Amino acid sequence: MDLDQIKKAASLEELEKIRISLLGKNGIITQKFKELKNLSAEEKKKVAKELNELKEKAIKLIAEKKEALEEEILNQKLKLERIDVTLFNPKPTGAIHPITDTMNKIIDFFTKLNFSVEVGPLVEDDFHNFEALNLPKYHPARDMQDTFYFKDGSLLRTHTSPVQIRTMLKQKPPIRMISPGAVFRRDYDLTHTPMFHQVEGLVVDEKGKVSFANLKFILESFLIHMFGDVKVRFRPSFFPFTEPSAEVDISCIFCEGKGCRVCSQTGWLEVLGCGVVDPNVFRAVGYENVSGYAFGLGVERFAMLLNRINDLRSMYEGDIRLMEQFK
Ligand code: PHE
Repeated sequence: MDLDQIKKAASLEELEKIRISLLGKNGIITQKFKELKNLSAEEKKKVAKELNELKEKAIKLIAEKKEALEEEILNQKLKLERIDVTLFNPKPTGAIHPITDTMNKIIDFFTKLNFSVEVGPLVEDDFHNFEALNLPKYHPARDMQDTFYFKDGSLLRTHTSPVQIRTMLKQKPPIRMISPGAVFRRDYDLTHTPMFHQVEGLVVDEKGKVSFANLKFILESFLIHMFGDVKVRFRPSFFPFTEPSAEVDISCIFCEGKGCRVCSQTGWLEVLGCGVVDPNVFRAVGYENVSGYAFGLGVERFAMLLNRINDLRSMYEGDIRLMEQFK
C-alpha cells in the first residue's frame, strides 16, 4: 500500500480524498479489516497487528501533512496580506476637526497680540466658577447656567470665566490673557451640546489704562479677522462679572444683513459676550486701583457659522464622512 501519496498531497482537499480512500467506510484499510474474518486464527492475529500498525501510521502521516499544509496556507496568507505600516501614504486620511481648526484661528489672533494662554481645571469649585465672579449663592443669575454638580459641591465648570479668577490670583497686573477650553451645561439640542468650548479673554492694567473703547477695538478687529468683511454691533446686556456688559453681533454672513432663517430675519448673529470687569470681581481677588475688560465666546458657534454646519451634534458623532469634507 502506498502511504507516500499522503506526503505528496498538494492541498487539504486532496489530502481529505486520500484519507477517505484509505480509512473511509469503503477505504482500502477499512476493507482489509473486513477481510480478516476470512483468515485462519493464526493468520488473523498476524495480519490484524500489521493492519493496526498501518492504520496508525496512516492516521499519523495524515495529521502531520494536514498541519504542514495549514501552516503553508497561513504563511501564504500572511505574505499576501502584509501591511507595511512604514509605507508613505501620499493621501492622508485625517483632517483637522472644525472645532480645533476654529480654536486655533482664535488663539492665533490673540497670541499675535501678546495675549498669554492660560488653562484651568474642568472640575471647579463654587468660589472660582460663581462666587468670585459676583455670582453669590442663591443669586438668580445662577439660573442662566444649568450646572452639573457633584455631591461634594464641586461642579463641571459652566464657563471659562473661572480662569480669569485663577490667573488674577496667581499673577500681578498687568494681565493680557485668553483661556480656551471645554465647558459643561445641561443642554442638548440642534445648537447645544452638554460639553462645548469657550475662549475667555481678560485684560487688566492700572486704573484708567483699559477702557470699553479698547475692548471694542480689539473685538471688532478680531471678528473681522474671523469672518471677513462684516459689520459689528454692541448691544447692552447683563453679566454679573462685567459692568457695563454687552453682547456683540455681526451682520449675518448668510444673507449679508437682509434677513434669513439663520438670523431669524434680524440680519444679525450674536457671537460674543463682553464687558468692563465689575469692581466686585477685583475685590474678590484682592486687586486695587486697576481697570479691565473681559470677553467670552462659544467656539462651536463660530465653527458652525464658518463651516455652514446646522446641527452641532454632528460634530461629536465621529462620522468619517463629515470629517472627509474638511480635508
Ligand atoms: N462667561 C460668559 C458666558 O459663559 C461669557 C462672558 C465672559 C461674558 C466674559 C462677559 C465677559 O456666557
